[in-house]
Amino acid sequence: MSQYIPQISSQSLREKVVLITGGANGIGASLVQQCLESGANVCVGDLDNIAGERLQRKYQEQFQPEEGQPPRVVFQTTDVTNYQSVLALFDFAFNKFKRIDHVVSAAGIVEIGNWFDFGLTLETVRETPTHKVLDVNLLGSMYVSRIASVYLRHNRGPNVDRSILLFSCVSGFKDSPSLFVYQSSKHGVIGLMRSLRGYVSSPYKHYLRINTICPWMTETEAIRKIEDQWKLADLPTNTPREVSTVATSMLADSSLNGTSMVVEGGRSWEIEDNIDRLEAQWLGEQSSKTLAAGQLFLDDGAIWTALPRKKSSISNGVPPGVPLDKLGGIQDHVNKMQIYGVTNGASNSITHGVH
Ligand SMILES: NC(=O)c1ccc[n+]([C@@H]2O[C@H](COP(=O)([O-])OP(=O)(O)OC[C@H]3O[C@@H](n4cnc5c(N)ncnc54)[C@H](O)[C@@H]3O)[C@@H](O)[C@H]2O)c1
Repeated sequence: MSQYIPQISSQSLREKVVLITGGANGIGASLVQQCLESGANVCVGDLDNIAGERLQRKYQEQFQPEEGQPPRVVFQTTDVTNYQSVLALFDFAFNKFKRIDHVVSAAGIVEIGNWFDFGLTLETVRETPTHKVLDVNLLGSMYVSRIASVYLRHNRGPNVDRSILLFSCVSGFKDSPSLFVYQSSKHGVIGLMRSLRGYVSSPYKHYLRINTICPWMTETEAIRKIEDQWKLADLPTNTPREVSTVATSMLADSSLNGTSMVVEGGRSWEIEDNIDRLEAQWLGEQSSKTLAAGQLFLDDGAIWTALPRKKSSISNGVPPGVPLDKLGGIQDHVNKMQIYGVTNGASNSITHGVH
């Protein structure tokens, strides 16, 4: 078991700029407070402008900037399902603080209606169902990650730690009957992180960390409908503060890349490492070996893209996807890959390609 013990102090995020979507309420709002308490400046984007402006007023009063500096927390109304709206949020943060160090995609909504209603008929199934849950939870996370991968590289040197944190859920890996679209979206969020963890961490690409947090039942508006029955069943819940403590620690911990952190009853556990480590047991030794060979071939995915790929294997000293004019520094790159644990897309360490 890989229990993760969060570690934060008033200095953990000192002088860092953190952009948080979905930060007006619930876990996101708690994370805004914790980032401020840990020394960061924070830009919040949320659809709920009333709660967002209230939060901005409260924390601007509580967390005063040093003289001549901009307010430590700012809010902009944002719809994560609208690409231009997300872009405008990043522009807003960048103009205010001149850089962005960490980005958190926390905006999310729960299931709407019942896609697989047993009562659907040949008539009613003709009506197109809503895909808003997919749009907010998955497409929104993809928009945020894409734009973050560019903004996080500006006005920051390569050795400054920067990261993206995505909000998945226990539904991202465990069955959640009735949460059909929600579960698909949260699986998708973990998939997004896995597709990016070896790619964005490459020193020859974005040089960023990316991680997922998977809270179990957490006391926010999102679970009000079932909260009482859940507690009657004597099942554990997280407070928003407990989840945001883990999230803040994940932002500050430069050793974490490619992890999924489950938070239940206030405790946190990393799961990716065990999934990789125990693969031969749950998949079978032979299949696991064959898959490993395929993963080694696919490497950082350059074969799928238009990036130049002189030779395909790191074992011959030439990492794929490296432009030819960069080959001068190749040994340095290979050394870094070894030190940081980036050997191929299916690293089996808790630090999937940490820089
Ligand atoms: N509460 C839980 O038990 C729980 C468990 C697992 C995962 N999560 C995830 O944690 C994250 C935070 O959830 P929460 O419980 O704090 O929920 P919440 O409802 O309290 O907060 C979610 C925030 O997202 C915002 N939002 C919704 N749609 C948006 C959009 N289109 N654009 C921008 N902002 C939008 C809301 O206005 C709200 O401020 C979500 O991604 C959620 O799926 C929550």
